[in-house]
Amino acid sequence: MILVTGGSEGIGFACARELLDRTTVSVLVTGRSQCKLAGAREALNGPARARLATLACDQASASDVATLVSLIERTERIDAAILTVGVNPAYAEGPLRVHALSLATIEQTIRTNCTHALQLTAALLDRFRRQRAGVLVWIGSQAQAVGLPGAGLYCATKSFLSGLARTAHHEYAARGIRVHLAHPGIVRTPRTAAVADEFARRHSLHVAEAPQVARQVVDLLLDGDQAVVEVNLC
Ligand SMILES: NC(=O)c1ccc[n+]([C@@H]2O[C@H](COP(=O)([O-])OP(=O)(O)OC[C@H]3O[C@@H](n4cnc5c(N)ncnc54)[C@H](OP(=O)(O)O)[C@@H]3O)[C@@H](O)[C@H]2O)c1
Repeated sequence: MILVTGGSEGIGFACARELLDRTTVSVLVTGRSQCKLAGAREALNGPARARLATLACDQASASDVATLVSLIERTERIDAAILTVGVNPAYAEGPLRVHALSLATIEQTIRTNCTHALQLTAALLDRFRRQRAGVLVWIGSQAQAVGLPGAGLYCATKSFLSGLARTAHHEYAARGIRVHLAHPGIVRTPRTAAVADEFARRHSLHVAEAPQVARQVVDLLLDGDQAVVEVNLC
């Protein structure tokens, strides 16, 4: 089984679809909305749909994440995982310079993107360590290396993944575990649809499509070089 968190739409769903096309394993996707999870199932053809499992899990919620951790511990075999959940409060609240961030927004964003991502990472690495095999891919963002005005909290949480990925590589590579942190640029997804073209025009960037990004993520998962931990996607 391969786990894809945040897999009901956008980059995560495109990764799940790509995995179902290119492997024979089952894929478990998570997301908050049951409706989006059902939509993801509907969007697949019959054979792929039969190998897709879904779980409603809000990565902001300690109890939902504890349920997912216990599922990771109980599942017979987990071959790999793609952790895509990474909320950006700028989409809900508008661009916020650092001095304007509320404590509630800081806590919710860090809990979702860092604390709970780390908790899931720990459960997966323990699993992979005992299996002596496994591949873990986090979805970061090229924004963290640049620093995006109005999205400092988001960028900071993506930088957190960088330290985590590099350390996990040193701690677990000898156990046959591969870890990669994949950094997309701007990608057209339901989250960015309204702003992607204008953002790309303003910064002279190219807007990638989610299936194109998913192909690169799944290439990395299936055949990545163990020594290359962080990768910018195009
Ligand atoms: N799109 C871009 O331009 C871009 C660029 C660089 C990096 N990224 C990163 O790529 C990842 C995916 O981004 P995306 O653009 O595809 O859209 P997204 O809106 O970040 O992710 C969509 C998926 O994540 C789920 N999700 C969102 N919040 C969640 C939460 N709290 N708990 C569990 N699931 C949650 C959504 O389902 P529900 O809404 O039902 O929960 C959906 O399945 C993110 O980490 C993002 O930061 C995106």
